[in-house]
Amino acid sequence: MSESIADASPVRIGVFDSGFGGLTVLRALLPRIPCAEFFYLGDTARLPYGSKSQATVARYAVESAQLLESWGAQYIVIACNTASALALDAIRAAAHVPVLGVIETGADSAADVSVTRDVLVLATDATVQSHAYAHACAARGLRSIEKACPLLVPLIEEGWIDHSVTRQVLHIYLDQALADARALGHTPDTVLLGCTHYPLVRPLLEAALPAGMTILNSAETTANRVHRDLLSNVYLPSRIASDRNLARCHFFATDSVDKFRVLGSRFLGQPIERVELIDLGG
Ligand code: DGL
Repeated sequence: MSESIADASPVRIGVFDSGFGGLTVLRALLPRIPCAEFFYLGDTARLPYGSKSQATVARYAVESAQLLESWGAQYIVIACNTASALALDAIRAAAHVPVLGVIETGADSAADVSVTRDVLVLATDATVQSHAYAHACAARGLRSIEKACPLLVPLIEEGWIDHSVTRQVLHIYLDQALADARALGHTPDTVLLGCTHYPLVRPLLEAALPAGMTILNSAETTANRVHRDLLSNVYLPSRIASDRNLARCHFFATDSVDKFRVLGSRFLGQPIERVELIDLGG
């Protein structure tokens, strides 16, 4: 990094996802790093990533990461499980700044809370096919059932977060996942949200799951890890040390900025005033 220790300008953090989902991660970052400057990129024109091939997701994700770096990001958060599962190595190879994905932090949080050591992972098709969570869970002594829920992202992007159709779809996925778990003799006590869009349907999930199951959203663990990484970086602690909320956020989307403003505010939990349209090509 070229910054001097005396540089007191806010640290610049790049966050990206295929769409709005990563805003759930930005939402967790804001209170933890209150004086950073955040650049959020939602590649809404090319969403969903979860049904695409590894090569395509890697190409899209590398482009997003490079764009964020060209805007001065000094740390990049891949706020998308699919891109983290399929493209973390490619992004790290292309970037010149630290890059964090959400899979390892998600598995860490499951390892912290699961008593039965059996976990249910809900994710996109591509994430499930990569078995990134199965490997990360196994490395922490957890057994996992990975369930692809391909209809959830389009429903959530449509804003149907409290809709009877979404409720029904969720029930079908959960019934199948719990039946798979029973057939394998697993007794999951923890549900890991392996897609950054899914926290938006958390209330529906809570109502649909058997009592006593813990739902985990890797956004919190990821945000804690970003904070820790920045503190341990020799150049950056002085630039995140403030308890005053001075965070500045810049939002970019590759498709309708109006839709991003309206729906994105729900994901972020606060109004988004301005969104800039970016063309990343096809
Ligand atoms: N939010 C992304 C994730 O965490 C997936 C959305 C998509 O399929 O594009 O996996």
